Amino acid sequence: MFDPQQSSRFLRGLGFGSPLPEWAVVLGTGFAAIEDELQLRARVAYSDVPGLPTPAGTAGHRCRLSQGTLAGTEVLLFCGRYHAYEGFAPRELAALPWTAHALGARKLLLTNAAGGLRGGLVAGSLLALEDHLNLTGINPLAGRERLEGAVPFPAMAGAYDTELRARLLAAGKRCGEAIESGVYAALAGPSFETAAEVRMLRALGADAVGMSTVPEALTARALGMRICALSLITNVAGGAADSHEHTLRAGADNAPRLARLLREFLAG
Ligand code: HPA
Repeated sequence: MFDPQQSSRFLRGLGFGSPLPEWAVVLGTGFAAIEDELQLRARVAYSDVPGLPTPAGTAGHRCRLSQGTLAGTEVLLFCGRYHAYEGFAPRELAALPWTAHALGARKLLLTNAAGGLRGGLVAGSLLALEDHLNLTGINPLAGRERLEGAVPFPAMAGAYDTELRARLLAAGKRCGEAIESGVYAALAGPSFETAAEVRMLRALGADAVGMSTVPEALTARALGMRICALSLITNVAGGAADSHEHTLRAGADNAPRLARLLREFLAG
């Protein structure tokens, strides 16, 4: 179970939150290599933090939190996340952004692997999120008890900060990476999409589809954090490469590029 107060107290006891982290980053599939570049101050496995949900152990996700300096920026790196398809309750999907906020971070970068829907978004493409479609059927803010510190009815228009997205695009330019902008549709998973669902998602205006990120974005906005998000496209949705193994392989293949891009992004 997620006990926000217990987990944040424990993490502060380990030295997290001091000095104040300027950024928090959730590292999705393919993005973990940046961890190795951190000048490490503190690190702990999610499973060793009382009050954080115990990770499900899905292949490819390390599930640990680190704080340190990267490219001159004090940052919290959440390597691995909680997914609805792993059976976590909606409220538990709030755990990472809530913890980032409790430790003092006010800017959050969410990263993930996603399937491309728009023409031209193929394996290896990068997409900065302009907006999202929440098609997961859940919301981490729903529940009898309000998530502490969260506004009850957060506005979501303009949720993805244009200034922070511009910073992503600028970092891409410095690295020679073309980053597209578009709409991410989140489904609960773990099944990939049927051909009819792919057609539906395109008709709805989605450019990419994945199984994460949106619950975290909803939580972070309800807490007043500024957010931006970046997808690595690992496959064309509905195609032959719809498998977890392929997603992991595409993530690994692109890891050095992504680490370089994140370093450039944090250097600002
Ligand atoms: N669909 C859903 N989630 C994904 C995909 C996809 O095609 N690729 C990576 N994550």
